[in-house]
Amino acid sequence: MDVLDHLTAARLVPVVVLDDAARASALADALVAGGLPVAEVTFRTPAAADAVRAVADHGGVLVGAGTVLTPDQVDQAVAAGAAFVVSPGLSRAVVERCREHGVAFLPGAVTATEVQAALELGLSTVKFFPAATSGGTAAVRALSAPFAGVRFVPTGGIGPDDLAQWLAVPSVAAVGGSWMVPRDRIAAGDFETVRELTARAVALAAR
Ligand code: 3PG
Repeated sequence: MDVLDHLTAARLVPVVVLDDAARASALADALVAGGLPVAEVTFRTPAAADAVRAVADHGGVLVGAGTVLTPDQVDQAVAAGAAFVVSPGLSRAVVERCREHGVAFLPGAVTATEVQAALELGLSTVKFFPAATSGGTAAVRALSAPFAGVRFVPTGGIGPDDLAQWLAVPSVAAVGGSWMVPRDRIAAGDFETVRELTARAVALAAR
């Protein structure tokens, strides 16, 4: 199974913001306990690379790096042990650096032009971001007509109430989001809430 197959099997990609890498291991435990051994750790805080490393060292979670905007961040993410890299948009420089490292890459794409550009770069799975404000499920269904082989990972503005409707779209591989890993709950060390929200998301995704 490659990384994208793993994400497709998990159906969910928790988008994590860690302000303190010392919380990473407990976060990984909570995700595993909640039944979702996957994490996209975003490069939005100075702790990001150390947090990726800590989750990778934990060993029980498939860890990727999110919000990766530059080739230099790709280098940092891969050095820290990221198994996949996610960007909010599509950057040729980032794609090429991921390819040099042999790491799976999920670029953001929400328009036909962006999806076509991803295909030209050899990528057929894209992050549909920001999902809720970019036309919702209707937009993904419409894009899937001309781009039959493309798989989407909608992320951004999705929560428990609309998860099922996104997962019902045949071209949706998995849904990303932060609702099961609230930044303030992680920062407070409230991993029981994280476990509970994660378990609830997993149950909804399994329906
Ligand atoms: C991301 O970078 O993928 C988003 O910030 C996650 O969006 P959400 O917080 O609305 O789930």
